[in-house]
Amino acid sequence: MALVPPYIANLRPYEPGRSIEDVRRAYGVERVAKLASNENPLGPSPKALSAISRDLGGLNYYPNGGLDLRLRLAQEFHLKVENVIAGSGSDSIMSGIIRAFLCDDDEVLTTESAFIGFQVLAKSRGVAYRTVPYRDWHYDLQALAAAITAKTKIIYLANPSNPTGTIFTKDEFDEFYRHVPERVLIILDEAYFEYAQANPRYPDSMHYRYDNVITLRTFSKIYGLAGLRVGYGFAHEELIANLLKVKLPFEPSGLAQSAAIAALDDQDFVRRALELNARGLRRIGDALREMGFDVVTSEANFVMVPMESAEAAKSLTEELLKKGVIIRPLGAFGLPHCLRISTGTDEDNQMLIEEVRKTGVRSQESGVRIYANS
Ligand SMILES: Cc1ncc(COP(=O)(O)O)c(C=O)c1O
Repeated sequence: MALVPPYIANLRPYEPGRSIEDVRRAYGVERVAKLASNENPLGPSPKALSAISRDLGGLNYYPNGGLDLRLRLAQEFHLKVENVIAGSGSDSIMSGIIRAFLCDDDEVLTTESAFIGFQVLAKSRGVAYRTVPYRDWHYDLQALAAAITAKTKIIYLANPSNPTGTIFTKDEFDEFYRHVPERVLIILDEAYFEYAQANPRYPDSMHYRYDNVITLRTFSKIYGLAGLRVGYGFAHEELIANLLKVKLPFEPSGLAQSAAIAALDDQDFVRRALELNARGLRRIGDALREMGFDVVTSEANFVMVPMESAEAAKSLTEELLKKGVIIRPLGAFGLPHCLRISTGTDEDNQMLIEEVRKTGVRSQESGVRIYANS
């Protein structure tokens, strides 16, 4: 169709993981464990729920473009409000970055099979999209630095990385940064920051600021607010001022702001989520490895499992769906032989392990490859 530019016509849309209701209907199962979208299995923070109930009566008013949340985040992280942006999920801020900073001849550079949300957004802009391969499922920062050209405008790095769950360290990032010209904007996507934060080698980007780095974080993961759509970013005030020009005027919604502000204060909930996740990573990792699967060591709230073939990955996904366990096949990311499994409640994790065991599938006949902790 002449109306549609070729890069949109050829774009594969973002496909969200399957919903619990959809799987219940399609497979006739009662109990469903949704381990496909890296959500918080504890539900939303109770403090966030109270704040939403408290503020429901204000739905007739337009929200203030994220100002309340920006002020609260600035206070929390000891920044000026001019250095903070809030939006309807970090996806929305990413979309703004692409609109605000890319010109037609610019290039985007990232790892192969980067977070699918970023892939779709960047490709929808119709600019050159270049990637370098993973090294042992880690971002290869050296190769990325070497791949920068005069046209490179944005480098996207997710740390921890989705879908691999691995991190790059502060030393690795510092070395990489020395090779990045100032005219290149680095997106440091820290959607899973809270899960990795305790690792002393993890570079919490809040502790050092560069003028050409924008950090993105979200309330969708540890804070359990994925359904409300609220995320935030930190950067130099000039970058934020330009992003604010292209942001949709009223996002995030008033209720999203209320919930996010309350959730920030609920550190007890965050602690419980971290404990549950650490237990889940251990149990799922140990059990699958014992069965002979290859499990990439993760610093996030999910693990990636490379299988011997795309067919094996597809077949295990389907077998588990029939039993009510939803995991994420990674074909859309560009890794059709890999699966991603989020940690769930203890019961969800047990259900996953039992159902995988019942399928009798063994992943790597030739032995188990376990990646060293990064
Ligand atoms: C690396 C990464 N960035 C961003 C997001 C999206 O976050 P949000 O819900 O804030 O748009 C996700 C969600 O899965 C993610 O994995």
